[in-house]
Amino acid sequence: MVNVVVVGSYVVDLMSRTPHMPKPGETVLGGPFRMGPGGKGGNQAVSAARQGANVTMVTKVGKDLFGEDAIRNFENERIITSHVTTHETEATGAALIAVDTESENMIVVALGACGKLSRDDVIQAQQSFADADIVLVQLETSLEAIESTITLANDMSKPIILNPAPYQELDQESLSKVSYITPNETEAEFLTGVNIVDEKSVHEAALALSDKGIPNVLITLGKKGCYVYDGKDGRTIPGFAVEAIDTTGAGDAFNGAFATFIAEGYSLDDAVYRANAVAALSVTKLGTAPAMPQKDEVDNFLQRVKA
Ligand code: RIB
Repeated sequence: MVNVVVVGSYVVDLMSRTPHMPKPGETVLGGPFRMGPGGKGGNQAVSAARQGANVTMVTKVGKDLFGEDAIRNFENERIITSHVTTHETEATGAALIAVDTESENMIVVALGACGKLSRDDVIQAQQSFADADIVLVQLETSLEAIESTITLANDMSKPIILNPAPYQELDQESLSKVSYITPNETEAEFLTGVNIVDEKSVHEAALALSDKGIPNVLITLGKKGCYVYDGKDGRTIPGFAVEAIDTTGAGDAFNGAFATFIAEGYSLDDAVYRANAVAALSVTKLGTAPAMPQKDEVDNFLQRVKA
């Protein structure tokens, strides 16, 4: 079993269907309402664990019922929670999610306790870093925790996956220490200034990221798949056509699974191919962490599409 450390957010997802996205000042009658575990870090940890990794989660929750739920949920997924700490005063974070009839979403995240993750919290987890095959981090916590994660993992010569979501500016030194970067098209545009409209512009954006010193660039393209640039060649690894119900968390499904597969020794293209399948299956269910597919579902799906 490979060891994956995930440093990132845990928040409670409060989700409602909506017939259309509300305009400023508008109230829309939506529903049904669903509540469940979320946060990009937590979702990615669940995705990695369900694909067979031994996952340690580093995050912070509040001293409240949602925080207790978080630990129970992680334990149910066999995720190690010794570095899920509790903030004295901040509440567990929450995300307000609206999903429309096209399965597209809009999200507002109030990070709460996980926004207070500190350098010390990361340093406390250094033994887990030492045991890790790979470290996975997003941009949905404090910059202090993100930069410390990248520094610590790099000092220990551990491969680092940075999922730059949601976009916030990160210094060039941190970016140059990352082994894999996995923006979606919007995040790649923010990072490079390249307007992505076709294969030529996606390649241009990938080159710009590669020029920042990142050896492997993976630009996720939704149902079209993922554009991969390894410093030599660029190619699109196509996605899978499925009936989408809720696309929220598809990027998290991809990132957690990719961490597991690349740590297990799959080639870059094979790891992306399998992670595309995990992302595709995740959008066939409602919700985020609970919608992550199990390993056998992914194996069966890949056998069916090959047949
Ligand atoms: O990527 C989806 C996640 O983003 C949701 O679970 C929500 O919590 C937000 O953080």
